Amino acid sequence: MSPASEIARAVATLRAGGLVAFPTETVYGLGADAENPDALARLFAVKGRPTDHPVIVHVGASSALDEWAIDVPDTARELAAQFWPGPLTLVTRAGPRVSRLATGGLDTVGLRVPDHPLALDLLRAFGGGVAAPSANRFGQVSPTTADAVRRELGDDVDRILDGGPCVVGVESTIVECTGDEVAVLRPGRITSEMIEAVLGRAPNIGGTTRAPGSLPAHYAPDARVELVAAAEVESAVVRLRDGGHRVGVLGLAADVVGLDSAVTLATVVTVDEYARVLYAALRAADEMGIDVVVAVPPAAVGIGIAVRDRLRRAATAGSVQR
Ligand code: TXA
Ligand code: MG
Repeated sequence: MSPASEIARAVATLRAGGLVAFPTETVYGLGADAENPDALARLFAVKGRPTDHPVIVHVGASSALDEWAIDVPDTARELAAQFWPGPLTLVTRAGPRVSRLATGGLDTVGLRVPDHPLALDLLRAFGGGVAAPSANRFGQVSPTTADAVRRELGDDVDRILDGGPCVVGVESTIVECTGDEVAVLRPGRITSEMIEAVLGRAPNIGGTTRAPGSLPAHYAPDARVELVAAAEVESAVVRLRDGGHRVGVLGLAADVVGLDSAVTLATVVTVDEYARVLYAALRAADEMGIDVVVAVPPAAVGIGIAVRDRLRRAATAGSVQR
């Protein structure tokens, strides 16, 4: 099918209240018409997501800010001008067009213009807003390929647009801009330093309102995830192997090479590569029947902050379940 007819079919599916998975630069999203209550209900049901957890509304251009939000502060406009299309979600006061089903009842809305040609084609052809969480079941690892979406959601998704592997690999930075407040609610590719460079002041971290759904335990594979320092990888692997576990290791190549008794889940040299392959590596661990993933977090610089955040949540999930 040509890309144009694929987009046309996906638009028809959205208009009919169906669910369309689509690629973005961060992770794949599971999209529904943000103004169709039945479609939103089905979206939450398929995700297995509590209805008070808001979803991001994806739009095709920055100009949509004023169609979906009210009282938009200059900070939000400046960040949109600089980073959209891109891996940034802006939380602002919701306008009347926003369904409270999409915001989980909140008076704010998360808006994002993703930077992926297929996503932009879809959003511009559809014209409206597409409510889309990451295309995984609640609490699981976000998918970064169309194949991962297929395996995760099967027949529960009506259509999947395949745009290849996602280049960023971890979810967008969420920044709340309401009144005078500027706060990073979830770290991502757009760092606090990048935000400070645009606004001339550093954002708060965490903010006055947490992002509902950013639970301490999240983004978790079936395998248990253990975080260790580079110097302790070898002893951790030996201890786990001697305990009868099948072990995988994840980290920068300099930190994890040359271990005989563990499966190397990814070979990455830079922190950007680490972010790009993180979720695919965690999925691969489950497919290989790995019991424990020994992960060495990268330095807390740039997107490394987001990788550390997701690894910490994956590790917390394991300690809660087991
Ligand atoms: O990169 C991404 O952001 C991906 C792609 C598909 O765009 N989407 C994504 O969606 O990660 P999801 O639903 O998995 O995570 C969205 C997060 C949730 O933690 C939610 O609480 C937060 O965004 N969020 C959405 N609207 C919000 C709002 N009005 N106030 C605070 N947090 C909000
Ligand atoms: Mg998600």
